[in-house]
Amino acid sequence: MRMGLIVVSASLLGLAAACAPAATEKPAAEAPPAAEVASTPRPVTLPVSLNAVMVALVDHASEPLWLDAYEPPTTEDGWREAEHHAYQMAVGGKLIQLAGTGPNDATWVADANWIRMADEMSAAGMDALAATRARNVALLNTAGDRLVAACEACHTEYKLGMPSMGIYKSPDYPVPER
Ligand code: HEC
Repeated sequence: MRMGLIVVSASLLGLAAACAPAATEKPAAEAPPAAEVASTPRPVTLPVSLNAVMVALVDHASEPLWLDAYEPPTTEDGWREAEHHAYQMAVGGKLIQLAGTGPNDATWVADANWIRMADEMSAAGMDALAATRARNVALLNTAGDRLVAACEACHTEYKLGMPSMGIYKSPDYPVPER
């Protein structure tokens, strides 16, 4: 605890030092208010392609949710896992509104229609979250239907015949036990 406090105060000192030169260049009155600086949007880009996000996150979290709707979890751990997948869908729908390293990513995320479809996927993820939290299989089925419709609507409009980065879902998902 003590160590933590020391580290925090050291980094605050570092911040103060970094700000100091600016403060001497300009009179304090001209400096933008702190709230304004904090709310300035930063351009955030993903370190991988949207194609990779689709395979490693979106597809990876959605498949088990659909399977759970057919064969519901029988343990508390299983339901917890389902909840985590639902979180991943809800957040994933927002994440794919940021461009990554794929050649078409920036064009896609600049399109209002893409944003609308990604939001729909996120909303379906929130439905799945409510269903898994309630341990309610009927609701999970309904959420699963909404989810699959969200995937299909967007793929019909945007998915190229061949993924731009050549990353396909594994043909044998779920991976068979070895
Ligand atoms: C907002 C649009 C959008 C939504 C929603 C969306 N996708 Fe995608 N998906 C794409 C695009 C575009 C690609 C192709 C990316 C590329 O080529 O760079 C893709 C690629 C993929 C791929 C890899 C390519 C392949 O053929 O194997 C998988 C798997 C995938 N999506 C699964 C899903 C699943 C499952 C869902 C729903 C749970 C979903 N996607 C929702 C737009 C979307």
